[in-house]
Amino acid sequence: MSEEVRRMFASISDKYDTANSVLSFGIHHFWRHVTVKMSGASKGQAVLDCATGTGDLAIVFKRVVGSEGYVLGTDFCKEMIEPAPGKAASKNLKIDFEVADAMNLPYKDDRFDISSIAFGIRNVDDPIKALKEMARVVKPGGRVVVLEFGQPKGLLKVPYQFYSKKVMPFIGGLISGNKDAYTYLPETSAIFPAGDKFLALMDQSGAFSKRKARSLTGGIAFVYVGIVK
Ligand SMILES: C[S@@+](CC[C@H](N)C(=O)[O-])C[C@H]1O[C@@H](n2cnc3c(N)ncnc32)[C@H](O)[C@@H]1O
Repeated sequence: MSEEVRRMFASISDKYDTANSVLSFGIHHFWRHVTVKMSGASKGQAVLDCATGTGDLAIVFKRVVGSEGYVLGTDFCKEMIEPAPGKAASKNLKIDFEVADAMNLPYKDDRFDISSIAFGIRNVDDPIKALKEMARVVKPGGRVVVLEFGQPKGLLKVPYQFYSKKVMPFIGGLISGNKDAYTYLPETSAIFPAGDKFLALMDQSGAFSKRKARSLTGGIAFVYVGIVK
């Protein structure tokens, strides 16, 4: 499964940013800012962004932790992180990027103040294992933050289902040349255990003393924050 996911992201890596901005109407930028705010990140802190892709969340973190802080973006797909160093440099930000699997992080215990993952946890084979790993590399009292899609309820439910099942594969396919990828992404979002179900996974990981969730844009996405034991 992991190898399939890696290949899929490699195949859309050069069009990923364009497709993201078009398909989300740019709202993912707002979600990332909320995520960083909820992480409680402050100047001088060390942050690990897992499944960083093209580095957008790492960039928002770096602006907050500043030059005295440190941000490392990691992803298991080398093609996805290829544009990231150039993007950071064009914004005068120094961020390191490395290839690493979120389920098996090559970092020592307690190295970071915060670890994060945006739209990546639903793609890993074992989300509890990834949560444990992300908590292991964070100091006790530090935070693990997760931004991930959910399933909106109420008035947004039907239009969002239509959008994600019909419009996303069509437009994502046109932009990236890989319609299957933009069918897979909404399909995995539709079945992902969001909200209270994800909080239960966080509890099962045994890694957090407290955890909370905030729904964004009517439940289209959620931010989860866990305080590391
Ligand atoms: C939808 S993209 C999100 C990228 C980026 N975080 C963002 O917010 O735009 C999902 C990313 O997760 C990465 N990924 C999936 N499974 C992974 C794993 N086990 N370890 C590290 N990265 C993984 C993929 O390579 C891909 O770059």
